[in-house]
Amino acid sequence: MQNNAAIEITALNKTYENGFEALAGIDLKIKRGEIFALLGPNGAGKTTLINAICGIVQPSSGRILVCGHDNVADYRLARAAIGLVPQELATDAFESVWNTVSFSRGLFGKPRNPDYIEKLLKQLSLWDKKDEQIRRLSGGMKRRVMIAKALSHEPDVLFLDEPTAGVDVELRKSMWAQVRALQETGVTVILTTHYIEEAEEMADRIGVINKGRLVITESKDVLMQKMGKRQMVFALREPLQAVPANLPDYSLALADNGNKLIYTYNAHQDHHDISDLLESLKEKNIRPKDIESRQSSLEEIFIQLVG
Ligand SMILES: Nc1ncnc2c1ncn2[C@@H]1O[C@H](COP(=O)(O)OP(=O)(O)OP(=O)(O)O)[C@@H](O)[C@H]1O
Ligand SMILES: [Mg+2]
Repeated sequence: MQNNAAIEITALNKTYENGFEALAGIDLKIKRGEIFALLGPNGAGKTTLINAICGIVQPSSGRILVCGHDNVADYRLARAAIGLVPQELATDAFESVWNTVSFSRGLFGKPRNPDYIEKLLKQLSLWDKKDEQIRRLSGGMKRRVMIAKALSHEPDVLFLDEPTAGVDVELRKSMWAQVRALQETGVTVILTTHYIEEAEEMADRIGVINKGRLVITESKDVLMQKMGKRQMVFALREPLQAVPANLPDYSLALADNGNKLIYTYNAHQDHHDISDLLESLKEKNIRPKDIESRQSSLEEIFIQLVG
């Protein structure tokens, strides 16, 4: 029977030797060809989960299938289906780009294929750097070399553990485009990130992980509707005792001893025109001296999700 899941995790637990429970009861299925983002704060268990799938961390219990192969019983087949770009980059600084990537392919026992390596380096905009020593590359280029290494043996599933941490906006965008191009070649991509915009930009589906538990797994569109709160903060000239009456359609709250009026709305659904709200406030003789707009942070979203 054709197995359509790239990853299938059942009842996965990981308690480290020191007794710390890093993963608790993870059940997760990721379809082939999906881009799946694992979103969570520091220490949530993202790297532990990825490393458990990749066979680097030994689970305490549970079962993991990679493209249908049990990652313990069929370790080699499971591992061959995986490419991993770890959170901590480590490469041989004195080796050339070409050699590093070709050697990595050899480690998986794949026959040499210079045409494929050339295609890969071109796709990742590294072709003109192929003979350069890795230590002479910029941080962003090094990260792309790590991606090329991870793809050198033509895996079905690519893991990117915080691919854009510390990467500038422009390069981040170009990496997003490259990951999407990879998806078009049929690769399943699983990435971790702290950045909600990154998950929003890239992912088909998002899993939110907190304290070792998957709090929610949802298609991006649904999740963004649930999560994407924005706020407009009006700094008032005169403090208010209460939220003005007869503005029932707006979700308004007071803060800072009545000196701030906060309008919360969903960034991904239609909301009132701000000018209408300002007009209504003006009618009530409320004139803000300053307006500030903010997006709810991941942390706030967590509080909302974890409750
Ligand atoms: N080898 C280990 N021994 C004991 N505890 C560990 C070990 N590795 C990780 N942990 C703990 O497990 C928890 C999850 O760590 P993990 O690296 O999976 O988090 P993460 O979500 O990847 O965080 P970050 O966003 O900072 O990379 C953390 O509390 C961490 O301290
Ligand atoms: Mg991590």
